[in-house]
Amino acid sequence: MKTATRYHLRPMIEADADGAGEIDREAFPTTRPPIPFRYEITSNRLARYLVAVDRKPQQPGENAGRLTRIIKDVRDLMATPAIDDMEMVCGYVAIWLMVDQVHISSIAVRESHRRRGIGELLIIGTIELAHALNENTVTLECRVSNYPAIALYEKYGFSRKGVRPRYYSDNMEDAFIMSTESILTPEYREFFEGRKRAYAERHGELEIELPKSASQ
Ligand SMILES: CC(C)(COP(=O)(O)OP(=O)(O)OC[C@H]1O[C@@H](n2cnc3c(N)ncnc32)[C@H](O)[C@@H]1OP(=O)(O)O)[C@@H](O)C(=O)NCCC(=O)NCCS
Repeated sequence: MKTATRYHLRPMIEADADGAGEIDREAFPTTRPPIPFRYEITSNRLARYLVAVDRKPQQPGENAGRLTRIIKDVRDLMATPAIDDMEMVCGYVAIWLMVDQVHISSIAVRESHRRRGIGELLIIGTIELAHALNENTVTLECRVSNYPAIALYEKYGFSRKGVRPRYYSDNMEDAFIMSTESILTPEYREFFEGRKRAYAERHGELEIELPKSASQ
């Protein structure tokens, strides 16, 4: 039996808001104001937020986040066990529910954790959610220079549908409008299942927990 992937995907909860906020600021320091995660997850009924969490956080000094280090220090003071049993948020995806489509409004992975399959896990979870909601397509905008992100999206069947000129106000960069074809067709489902199998072979069995219902 294959082992489970180290990273677990689940709906964001309030306790994740600080970790997600750190990742948002690190990834998008100039693009837009910070996402108010706490408000969003409690009040925005048209959005869903998923986080990828690391169940084996690194020890302080190995790129662990400031909060993790502080918690470790407090635990040390209290002579309780180290942080092995704690989760660290290492990526998030913000999803807007629209008519017939879901829109990825933001996605980011902690810089120290990139190139480990977490971005892919977030995209897989988004498409799973879109399937569960019977949505037809998944869309997003992306800086035309963002080659890592474009490669990630193309791996899951997104293609460039157009350009929004000067979309990003910090440097007036254009955005590609990217979208999947219908994700509900047998062809896309087969393609997606193949991608998931390949992911599991490489990174371990997927562990994805979705919001319980579309109204959650
Ligand atoms: C884009 C981002 C989310 C990718 O996350 P990640 O966890 O590093 O990506 P993964 O390890 O899951 O990689 C999955 C695929 O993405 C592509 N990819 C990711 N990083 C890449 C890089 N540096 N160069 C080229 N391709 C890359 C590849 O296709 C990769 O598949 P492969 O491993 O088979 O080559 C991450 O780089 C990030 O947070 N960037 C800053 C925020 C951002 O730009 N978000 C997107 C806004 S539109």
